[in-house]
Amino acid sequence: MGQTELIKDIAKYGLENDQEKLLSVLNELIEHSKKSRRLNFALQLQSILKDSIKLQKTSGLTKVGSEAYFQKAEDREVNDLIIEKLTSDYTFENLICDEKVKNQLEYFIQEHHSSEILNKYSLPIANKVLLHGHSGCGKTLASYVLAGELDKMMIVVNLGAIVSSRLGETSKNLAKLFRKAAYEDSIIFIDEFDSLGKVRDYNQDHGEMKRVVNTILQLFDYLPQSTIVIAATNQVDMVDDALLRRFDLSVMFDLPDYEQIKALIELTLKNGHFKFNRPKELQKVIKNSVGLSYYSIQKALITAIKRSLFIQAKKKIPEIALINVEIWEQLLKEEKNNTLKK
Ligand SMILES: Nc1ncnc2c1ncn2[C@@H]1O[C@H](COP(=O)(O)OP(=O)(O)OP(=O)(O)O)[C@@H](O)[C@H]1O
Ligand SMILES: [Mg+2]
Repeated sequence: MGQTELIKDIAKYGLENDQEKLLSVLNELIEHSKKSRRLNFALQLQSILKDSIKLQKTSGLTKVGSEAYFQKAEDREVNDLIIEKLTSDYTFENLICDEKVKNQLEYFIQEHHSSEILNKYSLPIANKVLLHGHSGCGKTLASYVLAGELDKMMIVVNLGAIVSSRLGETSKNLAKLFRKAAYEDSIIFIDEFDSLGKVRDYNQDHGEMKRVVNTILQLFDYLPQSTIVIAATNQVDMVDDALLRRFDLSVMFDLPDYEQIKALIELTLKNGHFKFNRPKELQKVIKNSVGLSYYSIQKALITAIKRSLFIQAKKKIPEIALINVEIWEQLLKEEKNNTLKK
């Protein structure tokens, strides 16, 4: 059936108040639009359908048995593109960052918590965030904090897995994912956002690259306001300028300074089971770790704790175990050497 016929049917069933047929033909129109590459139109229709299902659910009017509409073959395909779907208990307490980053993230959350008032004044709600900066400095962690603070499900996508060498496939994959996230009202977390650059390598001509970038631009433009996209990259230079401009918020994660390293140590040892054997030497060790990522420092500390425990456990399991500062210092040196080699 062509589009005109489908629209005529929608008008007919709408006026006849035949919910079941209306939904069925609407779904057909969505499928038809997808096939004829009018993805934005399809996405918008899906969003209308989703909102209406929600409304009917909350008002308790009719139980619409049509959610199964989306649980079709496409849903199964989309699941292959997702690394995991998660809910998160993380809060700001888990993330060490400077005031600027904290403010940026807090305002973002506030916009979603205050969506009613923003909608009332027709103000746009920021829903596209780019997290960039040094590896191991909290980008993925910040995405968990956002999901936790917003209390939303998060779909974790590895763009590297979606970027396909088959012409046209990457755009389709992306569109499918965005539809799913919009339908489920989830956050979509795109890690390794820079891997979009790979499309360039796979295909000699830049046509495919352009197409993928355009798809994302369109998907971004028609994203329902309650659907949040978080993208992360440690190679922001690889990301197309046009794409960068579309983000409502761009948050930079930097290496920790002296105070932030201190805070990281406190956070890591917050359960109170461990203490340093030579606390006076800590200042020097912390100073020497400036230049390393949060991840490297924490990893070295946890390894030092384990090794110190092995030594002490030979005698007796202590109530509060001592962390051997020298072991930690040595491990930090190794981390530094490793980063210098890279
Ligand atoms: N800012 C931070 N505050 C507290 N812990 C941190 C921070 N950054 C990193 N960590 C610790 O290091 C781990 C790894 O960090 P994360 O995965 O967020 O880094 P990333 O910036 O996403 O790195 P990559 O670019 O390599 O993906 C975290 O799970 C956490 O334990
Ligand atoms: Mg990460």
